[in-house]
Amino acid sequence: EFKKLVFSGVQPTGNLHLGNYLGAIRRFVALQEGNDCIYCVVDMHALTAQLVHEDMPSQTRSIAAAFIAAGIDPEKHIVFNQSAVPQHAELAWIFNCVARIGWMNRMTQFKDKAGKDREQASLGLYAYPSLMAADILVYRATHVPVGEDQKQHLELARDIAMKFNLDYAEHIGRTGYGVDITVGDEPVHAYFPMVEPLIGGPAPRVMSLRDGTKKMSKSDPSDLSRINLMDDEDAISKKIRKAKTDPDGLPSDVDGLQGRPEADNLVAIYAALADKSKSEVLAEFGGQQFSVFKPALVDLAIHVLAPITGEMRRLMDDTSHIDAILRKGSERARARAEVTMNQLRDVIGF
Ligand code: ADP
Ligand code: NA
Repeated sequence: EFKKLVFSGVQPTGNLHLGNYLGAIRRFVALQEGNDCIYCVVDMHALTAQLVHEDMPSQTRSIAAAFIAAGIDPEKHIVFNQSAVPQHAELAWIFNCVARIGWMNRMTQFKDKAGKDREQASLGLYAYPSLMAADILVYRATHVPVGEDQKQHLELARDIAMKFNLDYAEHIGRTGYGVDITVGDEPVHAYFPMVEPLIGGPAPRVMSLRDGTKKMSKSDPSDLSRINLMDDEDAISKKIRKAKTDPDGLPSDVDGLQGRPEADNLVAIYAALADKSKSEVLAEFGGQQFSVFKPALVDLAIHVLAPITGEMRRLMDDTSHIDAILRKGSERARARAEVTMNQLRDVIGF
């Protein structure tokens, strides 16, 4: 058995939004209790789409500030930025040699992000899931809280880990660094664990407020499509009031949300913010019009988000404090990553 360890990362690109908060950061906070957690600002991933980022340092600080403002304790757990721990890149190279071209070709996020002119996408964008596997496995992390959009990348991380374990089985045995696990019913002496995605809660995939078929995203050109963590109360109120809905009111049970993506999304957001199930929310609001539900959602969103926004602003005003947290976290992460890389070099024969 591998020791339980939680790892996840967020890219320092664009505004953090409610999808990032409900799908990821809020769940990072909840997992702190009783677990060892490592939370990373994945700045190297930010290069995959665009090389020059004048605002990289401030974007990196703002993700770290969001982690801490949301309630992550950087003393008990580790908060750091990826580029400060070069072992991630070192392991990613090994994983580039483990992963098969056919596996990478199936990644739907690459197809979405590369767009029509795939020949002009960077090699880094293509290899991104291999670096993501390295981010996780350089700590031999076992559990990864993410939004639903990352599910396929985590399956790839398992495939990479499994192929490495099997291809190097003899060397893992020889060096004595392996751990006995079972995969399905098979006993495996593994160097890398089979990571478990933690995808769930009422809002694993928060949708755009303008189009219920698209996920809420940093890259959506319409600012009305998302609630940003730095939005003020007026902006939150305006975006929810203008959120697309259908002519019907709220149904009394979740079956009534079928085929109504916008209504489903608003109910899911309410449920996640209130820490309730969608059924509980509908037990309260079923039969009401959106003109009643939306103001309640505005109040709830402001109640949950305003303290986080305030704390983020306060933290970002003191750059030396955030920088010190990242520096300290990076030192701790580097020490742990180097233990793995030392053993791996031995396994591989470097
Ligand atoms: P983005 O997808 O907005 O570019 P990241 O790739 O940095 O942001 O994602 C950070 C985390 O937020 C990931 O765990 C991702 O799955 C989650 N996430 C992003 N968008 C959403 C969404 N609309 N709903 C739920 N989770 C999301
Ligand atoms: Na994403």
